[in-house]
Amino acid sequence: MTSSSLSNLALGAVEAAERAAIAAARLAGRGDKIAADQAAVDAMRKAFNDMPMRGRIVIGEGERDEAPMLYIGEEVGTGEGPEIDIALDPLEGTSLTAGGKPEALTLLALAPRGGLLHAPDTYMDKIAVGPGLPGGVINLDRPVGENVAAVAKAKGVPVSEVTVCVLERERHQSIIDGVRAAGARVVLIPDGDVAAIIAAADPATNVDMYVGQGGAPEGVLSAAVLRCLGGQIECRLFFRNDDERARAAKTGIKDLDRKYTGAEMASKDCLFVASGVTGGQLLDAVRHSPGTVTTQTLLLSSAPRSRRIITTQRFVEGG
Ligand code: FBP
Repeated sequence: MTSSSLSNLALGAVEAAERAAIAAARLAGRGDKIAADQAAVDAMRKAFNDMPMRGRIVIGEGERDEAPMLYIGEEVGTGEGPEIDIALDPLEGTSLTAGGKPEALTLLALAPRGGLLHAPDTYMDKIAVGPGLPGGVINLDRPVGENVAAVAKAKGVPVSEVTVCVLERERHQSIIDGVRAAGARVVLIPDGDVAAIIAAADPATNVDMYVGQGGAPEGVLSAAVLRCLGGQIECRLFFRNDDERARAAKTGIKDLDRKYTGAEMASKDCLFVASGVTGGQLLDAVRHSPGTVTTQTLLLSSAPRSRRIITTQRFVEGG
């Protein structure tokens, strides 16, 4: 498959993310995260089925028996065209959306068949930095303070100028303490570790590194982001019980303790798309005005490497 056949799908992928964002945004602030997620799933699935591809969901809403739509293994698209693997999170930040809080996004990545890791819906330990640093500067198996010191040295700045983004969870207290003890700054976020990793890869933000445990699906989506923007990520699946271990084995993962690099999770060229739902530092919220609905979308490509921000104005019928 050529990179041009992947880029031919870019507009369809943008459309899918935008339609999901519009659907979810209608339910923003209404206190029902399940309804908001369902609305995004329905809209994204409909849009995928208009795309000229033989698409297969590899990171989805769950396994077939627990997710009726966009489940792992579901086939989407018109059934003609290139064979594509899809990782998606139709609503990243379900609680943020339900609470009317910023930074909720719709997310998806496309790659040729076999280009994205089939990860189970479990937790994953992650560490990530943006582009321009020497390979191996971060190591998931090193104490966080050592990673902070290595990043400061590679950037040629004092440790006190390094900012690390961490999800605000009790389980992360030792990471937070470790970063602060090393002399660096912590930015705590309520949800949304893909957005945090996008921020770490953007020199225009003050985030230098992301560390912590979040969803494995979000880990694979983040690897797609960094394949497009540059940067490094290391991850390892984390299981809370034997049921989760069994689910991982079912996805074909043999070594459950394996550490993954970004290149192993997003192993072929890919597209990554995110649309703003409630709006935030990365993207604006869906905006309604008389006769129009406006969305803002980030479209990343790994070949050729590019970053676009697309503002789309839809003219509403009768408006
Ligand atoms: P939702 O979209 O399901 O609300 O998930 C958002 C998120 O914050 C992810 O970005 C992150 O990977 C995961 O949840 C962390 O999980 P938990 O909330 O269980 O700590």
